[in-house]
Amino acid sequence: MDSLIETEVLVIGCGIAGATTALLLANQGVDVTLVTHAAALQDRNNTYLAQGGIVYQGVADSPQQFEDDILRAGAQMCHPRAIQILAEEGPSAVREILMDELRVSFDKTRHGNLSLVREGSHSVARILHGQDATGRVIFKAYQEVLLKHPHIQLLTGYTVIDLMSPSHHSKNIQERYRTQSCVGAYVLDQNKDRVVTCLAKKIVLATGGLGQIFLRTTNPVGARGDGLAMAYRMGGRIMNNEFIQFHPTTFFKKGAPSFLISEAVRGAGAKLVDADGVPFMKKYDPTWQDLASRDVVSRSIYQEMLMQDLSHVYLDLRSYLSANEISEKFPNMVRACLEQGVDPACDWIPVVPAAHYACGGVWVDDWGKTSIEHLYAVGEVSCTGVHGANRLASTSLLEGLVWGRRAAQHIAEHLKVTQKPQAADYPAWQNTGERHADPVLVKQDFDLIRNIMWNYVGLIRTTDRLERAYRELKYLEFEIERFYQTMRLNDDLIGLRNAIGVALIVATAARRNKTSLGCHFRIS
Ligand code: SIN
Repeated sequence: MDSLIETEVLVIGCGIAGATTALLLANQGVDVTLVTHAAALQDRNNTYLAQGGIVYQGVADSPQQFEDDILRAGAQMCHPRAIQILAEEGPSAVREILMDELRVSFDKTRHGNLSLVREGSHSVARILHGQDATGRVIFKAYQEVLLKHPHIQLLTGYTVIDLMSPSHHSKNIQERYRTQSCVGAYVLDQNKDRVVTCLAKKIVLATGGLGQIFLRTTNPVGARGDGLAMAYRMGGRIMNNEFIQFHPTTFFKKGAPSFLISEAVRGAGAKLVDADGVPFMKKYDPTWQDLASRDVVSRSIYQEMLMQDLSHVYLDLRSYLSANEISEKFPNMVRACLEQGVDPACDWIPVVPAAHYACGGVWVDDWGKTSIEHLYAVGEVSCTGVHGANRLASTSLLEGLVWGRRAAQHIAEHLKVTQKPQAADYPAWQNTGERHADPVLVKQDFDLIRNIMWNYVGLIRTTDRLERAYRELKYLEFEIERFYQTMRLNDDLIGLRNAIGVALIVATAARRNKTSLGCHFRIS
């Protein structure tokens, strides 16, 4: 393959949102190039890691009831049209794409019906799951078809450096007067250490979230906000970026890896307890208790830790669920805990909150279109307005599916009338430098970002902390940009540049918004 790729549609990222767009377009004969910076499709993939499930529809449920739950969790800040789309189209998208086309096998009851569970802030049981590894079950079904689809060129180990626009990159200087539009991307082929120019009629950002800019996170290594940083650099509209959701329960043990303990565990009856085993959520939310929205539960945990000087609290399963129930419903969680010497059937699980989901992102409309012509965004990188100030559990896979399908539909309808960018108009990438960046410095800078964001832009925010974060991040940005301009690019350096970009986006949004709402909580 030479260093130019010309394709009809370039999809960047292959979680449920990107995979859906790619698959539905390819099924119509559209040539799609799907790139991921991971070495293998499932690596660095938030969809693959999702434990809890995907919203379907409960018995005696209705789209209106689901909308009400989303709105309540989102602190009434959700976009009404977006939640209506999600609630009305969600069940058919799950049925048609996941069940009928991909044959995903969700868990069933003893009587052969779909097993529906309840999670925080849902008024009824309406969530489908595949044990406690729902994302993995869904992802494997996609993987099987994506890998052998004749209209999909799948490139692993390809890191997008920047999006390309005629106004920035065209050799024709008159292009700068045109509306901002996207024609492709410069992409680092990690395996061959060269930069490929990838030109496309339509470009879809599906790069996922940004949890890795925080010290504690449920997100995989690649979640460093690549898509948000690139769209912002190009001048795209972004919004709601102060609303970072912290998941209340991730496994905590000094020196051990942290991992998500699904909300489905509390949905099944487990309770949060303090060091003496006393449940505490009733004190903070007498109605919803352990199933209150995530922002409420996370702050309650933080408050308990502060008051009792604890490094963590606990999840008590053993008092509320039988040993059989625990191992049958949550086998992967049990395995991960046992590896760390904690047996959920006998011990309380030590937990702390961690950064989990970016409710904001790149602004998109009902069809996943961004404010930049020919550029779409789907999944966590985008902001449809569904999540408002705080996301309702198990809506993210569904949003990726619904908007992945909508973007595919819009692209298919407009592809024929979209002009193909001409390779002769665009220069090849110019290497910034030959010297390799010192990996110790790159890692150290990333760790600094994570610490600043965790300590000053975390669960509880104050003016002083946000001001400090902003100043320190600004200084780091200067250093990292100098690095980026002079060193030979690799995936880590590209990710670091994106991470400092999105850290500043989040810190700036949090600093500007003085009103506490949902998961943006300020005490001064
Ligand atoms: C969980 O299983 O608790 C996470 C699922 C989600 O974030 O929706």
